[in-house]
Amino acid sequence: MQVVLIPSGKSFSCKSGETILAAAKRQAINLASACENGTCGACKSEVVAGVVDHDDRASALTRTDLALGKALLCCAYARSDLTIKATQIAQRNDQPAATVPARVVRLQRLSPSVSGLTLRFPPGLSPAFRPGQFVGIEWEGRLRSFSIANAPRADGTIDLHIGRVQNGQFTGHVFEALTEGEILRLAGPFGDFGIADDQRPMLFVAGGTGMAPIVGMLQALAPAAPRQPIRLYWGCRNAREFYASNQVDEVAPAFADFRCVQVVSDDDPQWRGRSGFVHDIVRSDVPDLCQFDVYACGNPLLVRAMEDVAIEGGVPPARFFADSFNLVPPPAVDAQVLNKGATA
Ligand SMILES: Cc1cc2nc3c(=O)[nH]c(=O)nc-3n(C[C@H](O)[C@H](O)[C@H](O)COP(=O)(O)OP(=O)(O)OC[C@H]3O[C@@H](n4cnc5c(N)ncnc54)[C@H](O)[C@@H]3O)c2cc1C
Ligand code: FES
Repeated sequence: MQVVLIPSGKSFSCKSGETILAAAKRQAINLASACENGTCGACKSEVVAGVVDHDDRASALTRTDLALGKALLCCAYARSDLTIKATQIAQRNDQPAATVPARVVRLQRLSPSVSGLTLRFPPGLSPAFRPGQFVGIEWEGRLRSFSIANAPRADGTIDLHIGRVQNGQFTGHVFEALTEGEILRLAGPFGDFGIADDQRPMLFVAGGTGMAPIVGMLQALAPAAPRQPIRLYWGCRNAREFYASNQVDEVAPAFADFRCVQVVSDDDPQWRGRSGFVHDIVRSDVPDLCQFDVYACGNPLLVRAMEDVAIEGGVPPARFFADSFNLVPPPAVDAQVLNKGATA
């Protein structure tokens, strides 16, 4: 099968059983990618013509993506000749993605379960990103994805909001050992999450650290003092986890018609605000959902539930945008090794 990339017009062939990303790499065409296992969405591209199949790793693909003809090139296979709109990276590199060093210039405990990092890059190496995109931090041979939690700044620094994961290697390091001054290695920016149309009403839905890219998008919108309705629904397990409330308070006065609703999902007798699942609260609060562009970010269950609410509410696929913090699957177990173990 033959694949043509737009806008570059470059083409390459795909063998049977070979992912589109692997086929491009084999022919020295470097396409955007990070995890290479279907979880991060860095390789998400639009199939303009032709048919692809995915294997069962494609967790970063939503129903909306499928309806819009999107594919994850790291786990998609050509079933016909294809034309694909894909992000091409300038240099060829055998690593999953080229990385640059970044110094931790600020480390803050934002809540019991979230740390804030500010990273500074060497001159000329700061990532040029769109608010909403994410970077990959290389740790023990694998890229960990984290959304950039600010709008672009003159000094090129970026903020990350790192939620602690139980037994997480990198997030454990951030909470137990990381100090200001440490150098991390980053790849990216990646992803297509971000403001699609800055003139339309927007409804943002975040779960936990799903607020990170939304803070960046709100900061980017604020200088234009938007007049259209902007709604933010933020769900956390308990009240102590609303770690970025001050950042929301800072931008809120710039918006003429802004409402932020915080929702707690655990039983918390001290909590005087809204309780339940954040997507259920959106469903009951916003009957006219279809007037909004909907942006959802956070754990995959929330993103999927919010996608259902958006579809029920009449939001067309082209107006639903999501970044799902998918789990990285455990390393594949080699069936032959397992079988040998069983017979030894
Ligand atoms: C596009 C994208 C953007 C993301 N942005 C952010 C962000 O801005 N802030 C943020 O805090 N997180 C974000 N994440 C999630 C983040 O990438 C993971 O939490 C991180 O990779 C965990 O790394 P680790 O080395 O600590 O865990 P690992 O050592 O890789 O994993 C340890 C164990 O935890 C499980 N695990 C891994 N990730 C998660 C998770 N998110 N939730 C629950 N269990 C998990 C693994 O399956 C494994 O069993 C994002 C994920 C994606 C795909
Ligand atoms: S590189 Fe394909 S989903 Fe991460």
